[in-house]
Amino acid sequence: MSEKYYITTPIYYVNAAPHIGHAYTTIAADVLARDARLRGCEVRFLVGTDENSQKNVEAAKRAEKPVREYVDEMAATWRRTWEELGITFDDFIRTTEERHVKGVEKFYNAVKASGDIYKGTYEGYYCVGCEAYLTERDLVNGQCSLHKTSPQVIKEENYFFKLSRFRGPLLTHIKEHPEFIQPEKRRNEIVRYIQDHLEDISISRATQEWGIPVPGDSTQTLYVWFDALLNYITAVGYGADEEQFQSLWPADLHLVGKDIIKFHCALWPAMLMSVGFPLPQRVFAHGFFTMGGEKISKSLGNVIDPLELSREWGRDVVRYFLFREIAFGEDGNFSLERLAERYEGELSNGLGNLVARVTKLAEAGLPSCEGGDLMGDDVKAAEEAYAKALDAIEPHTALEQVWSLIALGDALFQEQQPWTKDPKDPGRSNIVAQACELLWHIGWLLKPFMPETSAKIFDQLGGEEGSFPDLAWDVGRFSGRTVKKGESLFPRKVV
Ligand code: MSP
Repeated sequence: MSEKYYITTPIYYVNAAPHIGHAYTTIAADVLARDARLRGCEVRFLVGTDENSQKNVEAAKRAEKPVREYVDEMAATWRRTWEELGITFDDFIRTTEERHVKGVEKFYNAVKASGDIYKGTYEGYYCVGCEAYLTERDLVNGQCSLHKTSPQVIKEENYFFKLSRFRGPLLTHIKEHPEFIQPEKRRNEIVRYIQDHLEDISISRATQEWGIPVPGDSTQTLYVWFDALLNYITAVGYGADEEQFQSLWPADLHLVGKDIIKFHCALWPAMLMSVGFPLPQRVFAHGFFTMGGEKISKSLGNVIDPLELSREWGRDVVRYFLFREIAFGEDGNFSLERLAERYEGELSNGLGNLVARVTKLAEAGLPSCEGGDLMGDDVKAAEEAYAKALDAIEPHTALEQVWSLIALGDALFQEQQPWTKDPKDPGRSNIVAQACELLWHIGWLLKPFMPETSAKIFDQLGGEEGSFPDLAWDVGRFSGRTVKKGESLFPRKVV
């Protein structure tokens, strides 16, 4: 039986349409899901929307629509966006769906049965922008440091989850499973937070109507994060299909932005520990990107629509740029000028040009492909480094490897100048076949990142047999094969 690989993205709030930051996480997960499928894994790729949030209620009010109608419309917008971007998700969960609500109720009762829920009084701050309880530490001049707004000051009777009880078990788990939180700097951040600041947390609100009522006390609504985190299990059968749940849980990877690691690496594992469920294998937090040094946000007016960007440049180009430009895990700056530069330098003049030159020469026919192996070892080394990089969730490093192969092809042509040789010269045919074989490998490595480009390359090369990662260097496959130059992969843009 093939190995299962269950991968998730955050479920996003639907208070606005997706921007490029949300697309970043989702496309990254798509790259990893496609890669895992190529490796023969049985992939389950989950995306969805976080709908029981106060932020959504406020957005519905602004749109002058009933909340239900608003979240329905917005969830459809998010789903369509991922579809149009070519995201290969297997399931899309909405937290207003019955399968989720039922699972949440069951889970709440299980935590209660474990003795980890009690009634108490919460007195303090709440930021609706963060959907989080804040402490003095989180405030700058009395305002939420992230949203630059004054938090609500609340005092109300709520249900509390005994989060502090899990300080020891969480620290032990993190110590014993260094792969649980990545990258390392995020792990260190979480360890400090758990050691120094972990407190019991209010998991209900008394004054909110929209959301899932607390089982057994409909005067209270469940805190949105307690409900939202559970999507990762309610989407795979928790509370409804035990067999499916057992076969898919725990998740292999939760991919998140660095803003939400406390929830994923402290609250969520503690909730799972409370009911005795296994913890996710890995939570990876990537960095944030800015535009012109500013945070991407609606109020700053610098939001980029991933659909518009893809329509203008092509989906593969956006996918390439996002992961080539910014080291995953680090913060970075998003700039359209850099996108244009990389398009011209690396896609048009790099990959596109190499494919055009090789296929043009190969059109003359490839009778002889016997002249030994000019690049096999280098290609194998790059493929190993590529696989290692994706394993470590370093897509930028994986792409670097692919571009090192493009450089290898350019160097081969520069050195051998096959176009100066007679088309009937077996020496020429052999060099061109070697270059075709190189492109064939590049086509495979590009599959998770640039699926449409990869398909076009294989089309020109006359087929894509084989399977990744067991790609042998076999120039013989091009013996007598028909290669056909196609349209330019990345035509020059007229600016
Ligand atoms: N609803 C919660 C998540 C619940 S998961 C159980 C939430 N939603 S959100 O809509 O605010 O999305 C936050 C996530 O969007 C980040 O963690 C990150 O994945 C992504 N990003 C939003 N802006 C981003 C950037 N500017 N840069 C990179 N990622 C960004 O939090």
